[in-house]
Amino acid sequence: MPARSAIEILKHDHKEAKGLFEKILTTDDDAECERLYEELARELRIHVAVEKDVFYPRILEELGDKIPQDIIDHQEKEESESPEMLDQLDTIEDDDEWMETFREFRDTVLEHAVAVEEGKLFPLVERSMSREDLQELGREMEERKNELKSEYERPAER
Ligand SMILES: [Fe+2]
Ligand SMILES: [Fe+2]
Repeated sequence: MPARSAIEILKHDHKEAKGLFEKILTTDDDAECERLYEELARELRIHVAVEKDVFYPRILEELGDKIPQDIIDHQEKEESESPEMLDQLDTIEDDDEWMETFREFRDTVLEHAVAVEEGKLFPLVERSMSREDLQELGREMEERKNELKSEYERPAER
């Protein structure tokens, strides 16, 4: 199977997240909802970390100031706010409040992923970097992803 490019990996993650958000909002089975949410939280934490540790540093190096500052700001905001909102969701006991906060969280995440990254940033990256370079970057991202996955799968003392 040919290596996935960095962009294909991120778009795939976004699609999976979108699906999980949707399922969580439509299921009426509490246990299922909790299981799906755990999965989503883990996947999003990993996604944000892979972007932060590998993807963004590399494209900043390649594209430099071709990337509009508002995109960088948006990403930095996601890096700090996404994990914070997940932590916050973990502490909410009231179901309605949880759902409301969860919907806001979904809107924020999808706006960033779809409107900002897929809509503005990725086309720019694909015009500026070769397919080979994006596949190479994709390999580095898969590696980082696997490291993070095994960290999350270790029995947690949380
Ligand atoms: Fe992002
Ligand atoms: Fe993303």
